[in-house]
Amino acid sequence: MRGKAQPQQKPRLKTLERVFSKAGMGSRSDARSWIGSGQVRVNGKVVQNPDHWVDLDRDRITFQGKPLRMAEKIYILLYKPKGYITSYGDPENRPTVYDLTKEAGGWLAPVGRLDLDTSGLLLMTNDTAFAERITNPAHEIAKTYQVKASTLVTDDQLEQLRLGVELSDGRTRPALVRHLRDSARFSFLELTITEGRNRQVRRMIETLGCKVLKLVRVAIGPIRIGDLPIGKWRHLTAEERLLLGAQPAASGRAKRT
Ligand code: URA
Repeated sequence: MRGKAQPQQKPRLKTLERVFSKAGMGSRSDARSWIGSGQVRVNGKVVQNPDHWVDLDRDRITFQGKPLRMAEKIYILLYKPKGYITSYGDPENRPTVYDLTKEAGGWLAPVGRLDLDTSGLLLMTNDTAFAERITNPAHEIAKTYQVKASTLVTDDQLEQLRLGVELSDGRTRPALVRHLRDSARFSFLELTITEGRNRQVRRMIETLGCKVLKLVRVAIGPIRIGDLPIGKWRHLTAEERLLLGAQPAASGRAKRT
């Protein structure tokens, strides 16, 4: 008589490129170049195809002769100054957020983007699944911006922003809008949006017939920039990691630059 069938465990199949990006060691193009240049072996054999499928439970993957290991997940919060670009390297040689985070260790990618002229809270991490969750509009993670508008803004105009405005790529979702204060010529507002389309806040303000003179992102979800000095970074605290659904820290840390 045959024994009872054992429940089958689903194989954990991934492409080699995906395994590297999940390991948090580098970008997808880094992974493709390491694999393409023959630095990666699967079960002892060099594999140069980044789309090669591997079973994480059975296949032995090595990189430069050493078993591939998952890098510790790192999550940092940078107060990006205006004038820095949110990408790695720039053909025009402008300063980048990597110039400010060299000591954070390991390979980190920005979680979404801030425009060159925008300052404020930028998360950076090697946890690609976390970055995807924070930036995917389907998850409706709130991003809060403080705006200096080029004119005084009326209550009717604030109401338009709250209800959603028509942009070239469609109507925006309703926004939370607080009128912080007015000076003689300018209004200061706080907008919370859950989408993150390209230059969204600037374009929303432009629908009112005025411009953004200054834009600062002050929060992502419940995480605020607080009193972090401009241009500096710190690790997310254990509580902040929990609040954002990031992985818990292996050991407590409170480092700041
Ligand atoms: N909205 C913008 O217009 N710019 C940013 O950098 C972020 C949000």
